[in-house]
Amino acid sequence: MKAHELARELNISPRELVNYLQQNRLTRNPSAPLPPQAIEAARHQFGRTASVVRGPEVNGERKVVLPPTLSVKDLAERLRVRPVDVIKKLMQSGVMATVNQVIDYGTAEIVADDFGYTVEPIASEDVVAVESDREGAVVTTSRSELFSLAHEDPRKLRARPPIVTVLGHVDHGKTSILDAIRNTNVAGGEAGGITQRIGAYQVQTPDGAPVVFIDTPGHEAFTAMRARGAQVTDLAVLVVAADDGVMPQTIEAIQHARAAEVPIVVAINKIDRDGANVDRVHQELAAQDVITRHYGGEYECVHVSARTHQGLDDLLTTIVLSSEILDLKANPERHAIGTVVDANLERGRGSVATVLVANGTLKVGDYFVCGHIYGRVRALTNDRGQSVDQAVPATPVVVSGLSEVPSAGDIFQVVGSEKAARQIALTKLQERRVSDASRELAPRVTLEELARRAKEGDVKELNLVVKADAQGTLEAVINSLEKIEDPVVTIKVVGQGVGPVNDSDLLLASVSSAIVLGFNLKSTPASDRAAEREKVEVRYYDVIYKLTEDVERAAKGMREPTYRQVWEGRVQVVTPIRIPRLGLIAGSRVVEGKVSRAGYVKLSRGRNQVWEGRITSLKHHKDDVREMIAGQECGIGLERFEGFEPDDIMETFRLELEEV
Ligand code: GTP
Ligand code: MG
Repeated sequence: MKAHELARELNISPRELVNYLQQNRLTRNPSAPLPPQAIEAARHQFGRTASVVRGPEVNGERKVVLPPTLSVKDLAERLRVRPVDVIKKLMQSGVMATVNQVIDYGTAEIVADDFGYTVEPIASEDVVAVESDREGAVVTTSRSELFSLAHEDPRKLRARPPIVTVLGHVDHGKTSILDAIRNTNVAGGEAGGITQRIGAYQVQTPDGAPVVFIDTPGHEAFTAMRARGAQVTDLAVLVVAADDGVMPQTIEAIQHARAAEVPIVVAINKIDRDGANVDRVHQELAAQDVITRHYGGEYECVHVSARTHQGLDDLLTTIVLSSEILDLKANPERHAIGTVVDANLERGRGSVATVLVANGTLKVGDYFVCGHIYGRVRALTNDRGQSVDQAVPATPVVVSGLSEVPSAGDIFQVVGSEKAARQIALTKLQERRVSDASRELAPRVTLEELARRAKEGDVKELNLVVKADAQGTLEAVINSLEKIEDPVVTIKVVGQGVGPVNDSDLLLASVSSAIVLGFNLKSTPASDRAAEREKVEVRYYDVIYKLTEDVERAAKGMREPTYRQVWEGRVQVVTPIRIPRLGLIAGSRVVEGKVSRAGYVKLSRGRNQVWEGRITSLKHHKDDVREMIAGQECGIGLERFEGFEPDDIMETFRLELEEV
């Protein structure tokens, strides 16, 4: 059995499988038929988790994750019932709907409940607005679903080239290797020879197979994109200079590629240099658990020189072989969808964005949305600077015709009409307003928070980034962490290193929802500020058992704080008021007690409670105020809720920490 067949059987992506086989040293060659023990191990690993995570049935209980809005047809699909059954249920609750009608989460929840499902909302940062079947209407979905091929007609799927990111320590020759492959000379033209921006290029192997390369200025850019949910890479090439060996950023690159779960191909570069010592590099890589083929491991490794071009064909062939088993496909016959890998303002052309088309074909004249920007594709330029009129899957193209500069990682989607484009862009703008407002309030990932989620069964993994003052102490800390065993939560060290906590650690922690543990280290004001910005918790220890004790406790969910609701007052809605930049707020009168900005409300209409949640703004005339008391009039903004009506009643309360 081959890897992609097994992946299909286990209902996971080939990439996930290959990555697993590679890390657990289960096969020497993932493109060859798999050895029986590899198949067995993978079935064991993914067979069970697959049914827990993906299957609709969990211990006889059926779960479904729903976006804030979706069409009736879409809901039926998710519930695995016929659309007419959903329509019937809706009619029973007094809602007349057609197949393409868009309904909101609350309505969908009631229907799903009737069909015996427990419902969960999609994580809000994962919500993506898309065009619905009905012209101009907008529904929401998740990023992974948008990029998934699950809904494509299998007959329309065609093989697509692999998208490869080149990672490695600064100056180890990432750009030079790409240049040598492309036979151009970008590094020579770069300011100071350091890659400033991401370049994306398509090249041909000697056999004519296309490969798409993304050159990054360092793994930060790669991870920053991933931090925004963009998974554009199929495979990582890790460049290590033979005369310099494994360096700190090489190790970081390995960690980042692992965290992104992409297979790694190693390229040992600069073998023409006098000081080149290939053996040492293999050893140093092995110390990082990257055991190359030469050492009997699973990691493909090629010795190259960007200067003499030695080994470059071999590198390309290895990349193509390693990607064949990933079974990469796309449907060229649909509206394009892609990711912005780079964008800037160019003289004469205005805002331009390098877009990597993931699925579909992008054409000049297409209506598009990209973040909150929308418009029509004015022109397309390929990676050689030639003007083209379309771009098929896995092609990088520069798009012009954008009214603003988007950010790397933004989704670029083509829609059927300008109306739909405008609608989706508008949703994005509103969302951004809300998230900007609530960003300040967003919870940091803390040990306590993870412990709470662990207790609720939301997290099964406690991710850690461990830093220490010296290699010896680092190993001691890691060893004692490895000894912690918990029946439910696995403790996973996603990153480790010697030296002070730096931006790269924080970024890695932020995208992996990890806590940073510093051992025998001191915090600096700069690292504190950065941690605050990335909303990452950094804890410092100088006694190992204190560190392990805390981690153990977090895993057990013992630090769960509990809250008590304390009633504060009652407020009556007089009229909804629209305020620029804030949206709709409830013009209200405090009837009894008080309302405070840091508080919560239960909003009811007649006898029914309609909503419960947090207050985001409290205003008296135009001023922000901390609290208002009985008899006063004020404007109250609620977190992601604008559905209030005159005469609604809000009971206000605050949450108080209950000491245990
Ligand atoms: P950043 O983008 O700054 O991270 O660097 P990079 O990894 O892209 O390295 P770059 O390609 O800019 O190469 C750095 C230096 O190494 C340049 O001076 C290259 O000429 C040199 N170099 C790259 N590859 C080779 C090689 O195979 N042999 C020799 N002798 N020199 C090389
Ligand atoms: Mg470079």
